[in-house]
Amino acid sequence: MKCFFAPLQGYTEDAYRRLHNDIFGGIDAYYSPFVRLEHGKVRSKDMRDIRPEFNEGVNLIPQIIARDAEEMHTLLDVILPLGYKSIDINMGCPFPLQTKHGRGAGLLECPEKVEQMMEIVKKNADISFSVKMRLGLNNEEDWKNILPILNDTPLHHITIHPRIASQQYKGTVNMDAFDAFLEASKHPVVYNGDIQTTDDIASLEKRYGDRLYGIMIGRGLLARPSLVWEYVNNTKLSDNELFEKILLMHDKLHEHYTRIIPGEAQQLSKLRTFWDYLEPTIGRKHWKKIMKAGNMKNYLMTLSPVPLSH
Ligand SMILES: Cc1cc2nc3c(=O)[nH]c(=O)nc-3n(C[C@H](O)[C@H](O)[C@H](O)COP(=O)(O)O)c2cc1C
Repeated sequence: MKCFFAPLQGYTEDAYRRLHNDIFGGIDAYYSPFVRLEHGKVRSKDMRDIRPEFNEGVNLIPQIIARDAEEMHTLLDVILPLGYKSIDINMGCPFPLQTKHGRGAGLLECPEKVEQMMEIVKKNADISFSVKMRLGLNNEEDWKNILPILNDTPLHHITIHPRIASQQYKGTVNMDAFDAFLEASKHPVVYNGDIQTTDDIASLEKRYGDRLYGIMIGRGLLARPSLVWEYVNNTKLSDNELFEKILLMHDKLHEHYTRIIPGEAQQLSKLRTFWDYLEPTIGRKHWKKIMKAGNMKNYLMTLSPVPLSH
């Protein structure tokens, strides 16, 4: 079973991926947060994030978000010259800013748009395309109109997050719908959603075995960056080993932000996001201290090697 790091806009950026790969590892591929158009052009911030020189040593699959074939063409014209041979297509983003323009999960209500986009996939036989999607926009059955089109397209795999867009990332995942999707898909399927522990991974492996091509983990890896490495190596890091590695990653990110972000206040606000999902791992008390520190000096003092609370 392959293990992929999910794309998380604002979190899994180039430096994070590089450092995670060096310090924790265990990941088969990292997906970039979606690359999108702004005023008809690819955002320069997104382009920087996927430039090969900023992703050395990382198996990166760029993800694109497009509302139709035209936008998809524009994105590919800029991204493919960088040399990538794999591209992931976002059909799952639940944010209204994207869905109301027909992007992300918005596409799940527009089979004709998906069909036109899949024509581009068919014409680019040298590129390995995958799709990341949800069950639907507002209806858990939307996928039933989309999957036949995807089944008829040479895709490498489909990642499915078994929620609808209005749930965003909350509420229960619909495993019955996932089972039906797995059954109906002609392509290898990757499961995504709420994987938090090595036991969660083990139970998916036990339940689906070879029927599952892989799993994709987002928040669970932000919360415990060693999660996949621990699963793959059947080893649990001690609290202190884990905290040391988290601090090493943090310090290298700090160095990086000092180089690319002007101003200490901005560096601090970016650095704080590193801890957003780490509360379950470092304990509430320590987490609150880190989040409350008002300036860089106090913030760095909160990071002295305090052992984990559990
Ligand atoms: C802050 C945030 C940003 C995200 N950005 C993206 C994105 O750019 N592309 C994408 O396909 N999914 C994005 N996702 C969804 C995640 O990739 C993943 O599908 C979701 O978090 C569920 O998986 P998890 O329970 O393992 O976190 C984002 C999710 C969050 C919470």
